[in-house]
Amino acid sequence: KGPKAPNGSPLRFEAIDPVDYTVDEFTVPEGFEWHPIIKWGDKLFSDAPDFDWGAQTAEAQKRQFGYNNDYTEIQEIPDSDGLRAVMFVNHEYTNENIMLPEDTDAETVAEVGLNAHGLTVVELQREDHDSPYEYVVDAELNRRFLADTKYAFTGPARFSDLLKTKDFPRGNATHGTFGNCSGGLTPWGTQLSGEENFNGYFRTAGDTDEDKRYGMSAKATARGWENVDPRFDTTNDGYENSAHHFGWIVEVDPWDPESTPRKHTAMGRFKHEGANVIIAEDGHAVAYMGDDEKFDYLYKFVSAKKYKEGNRKHNMTLLEEGDLYVAKFEGNSGTINGSGAVPKDGSFDGTGRWIPLIVDGKSEVEGMDVDEVLVKTRLAADKVGPTKMDRCEDVEPSLKSRKVYVACTNNDGRGTEGKAGPDEVNPRTVNRDGHVVEIDELGTQSGTSFAWNLLLVCGDPAQNTSTYFSGFPKKKVSPISCPDNLAFDSVGNLWISTDGAPSTIGFNDGLFRVTLEGNQRGKVEQFASVPVDAETCGPIVRDQDRTAFVSVQHPGEDGTFDEQVSYWPEFEGTGPKPTVVQILPARTEFSDV
Ligand code: FEO
Ligand code: CA
Ligand code: CA
Ligand code: CA
Repeated sequence: KGPKAPNGSPLRFEAIDPVDYTVDEFTVPEGFEWHPIIKWGDKLFSDAPDFDWGAQTAEAQKRQFGYNNDYTEIQEIPDSDGLRAVMFVNHEYTNENIMLPEDTDAETVAEVGLNAHGLTVVELQREDHDSPYEYVVDAELNRRFLADTKYAFTGPARFSDLLKTKDFPRGNATHGTFGNCSGGLTPWGTQLSGEENFNGYFRTAGDTDEDKRYGMSAKATARGWENVDPRFDTTNDGYENSAHHFGWIVEVDPWDPESTPRKHTAMGRFKHEGANVIIAEDGHAVAYMGDDEKFDYLYKFVSAKKYKEGNRKHNMTLLEEGDLYVAKFEGNSGTINGSGAVPKDGSFDGTGRWIPLIVDGKSEVEGMDVDEVLVKTRLAADKVGPTKMDRCEDVEPSLKSRKVYVACTNNDGRGTEGKAGPDEVNPRTVNRDGHVVEIDELGTQSGTSFAWNLLLVCGDPAQNTSTYFSGFPKKKVSPISCPDNLAFDSVGNLWISTDGAPSTIGFNDGLFRVTLEGNQRGKVEQFASVPVDAETCGPIVRDQDRTAFVSVQHPGEDGTFDEQVSYWPEFEGTGPKPTVVQILPARTEFSDV
């Protein structure tokens, strides 16, 4: 059954060895097996065409599972004995270079790409708790969220002039969601999804402070959607504000296929990785959010209204109105060792405060109205001096300890010419491997001051002396680089999935368990490794069932259609397919060994 697991978790395993970055396989520990649940192009509805490799069409794609599954969550359907579930998935982006033959016409490329984005809700079922889930074609809750799906704006910027376009002259709604990276499950059972790299979909005049700060330019976009839909070019008449419709936190009710998803303006607009909610001791809903860009910021939202247990209708309004803060970290170790190897007082730690941007519905930022602060949040935050971080990806509170974990994935620009140098919370110059911050709010979760320390300074200790594992012996950890998505198991261990390890430590990305408490704190154990070029997304850990799920995103993304570098997971008749995978104890009757 494997060695004892931290905190008595039933998920016992012997860590796998890291896997070389050229290997086109999914690897799990001894005694486990893995199963694909759903892959790019799998039909959600029986009237959809079967997937046709190399001949994908926009019409087919609309009724099939989208591309590049990122954030993934599974909720059990009540009264199903744990045998049925509803799964929510983000489709972050597309890799047209490996999806379609090179001679595909530009319009088809754009239309397939458009419809392979968005979100999916799909029902799952399993025969018993020892069997893998399968997805259910034509299930009642199945839904694809596409470029023409309507989204309602909520919050203070709803009806703002900054949101008015030709198609939505009142500024109260939009169509579509793009660049959906990570997300979170709310305590009331809805799903949050972060609109991250939306800037890449828009061509703009490119000359305003806002264009520059959000990374938008006058160049043709990579996917060319501006050639099939005028809203993707903000120089078109009536579409000046169309990029303002993206960069939000989206809330979806997966339990109601007729519901209108919402974009919450009160939570600000930036390159939202995701959002994770915890109910504070005083009843307010608190959401933690990262802006995933080198030198960008960490944010916190505190709802105006309080959570009411069992009142779902009320709770679904909590993210519509509240206070917005941005984080300032202060270290206490004095000067920082430039290599980041050793904090001067034995641990990287300090205190910090949440600087207000919006409080009680009023702007705290000089010269900016509430709707400006919410729509141009990066410009607002720049004015109040928050800490420039090494790319905050998932930011997730532990529901056991209430501590908050921040995955700073990497920042190779730190300390380079003209850029901010290291500070105690981002202690490395040229931080290629990333690190994980632990935040402990002082007073209540909804307050404005916190303590922090670094849980991990990532990397392969065999290759890099500047790693740190909260003092745990470096010889006994799995090498880990570029932490991205976070999850917790039922007993409060942290799980980290990575994106970028091939180019930093030479291993495929994977899924890792990290012990947080006791004398094993900082112990990192690798549980899974994904195929060549793939990122490990999603992770969901159901340790009581000894099972976990990952979304394998962009396998083989550096190939071309004719020269693929991955053929995972089918290896016959197709190139690579992004796939949601379940890992579970090997069932002897089906096992090869
Ligand atoms: Fe889409 Fe921040 O990774
Ligand atoms: Ca991510
Ligand atoms: Ca997560
Ligand atoms: Ca990433």
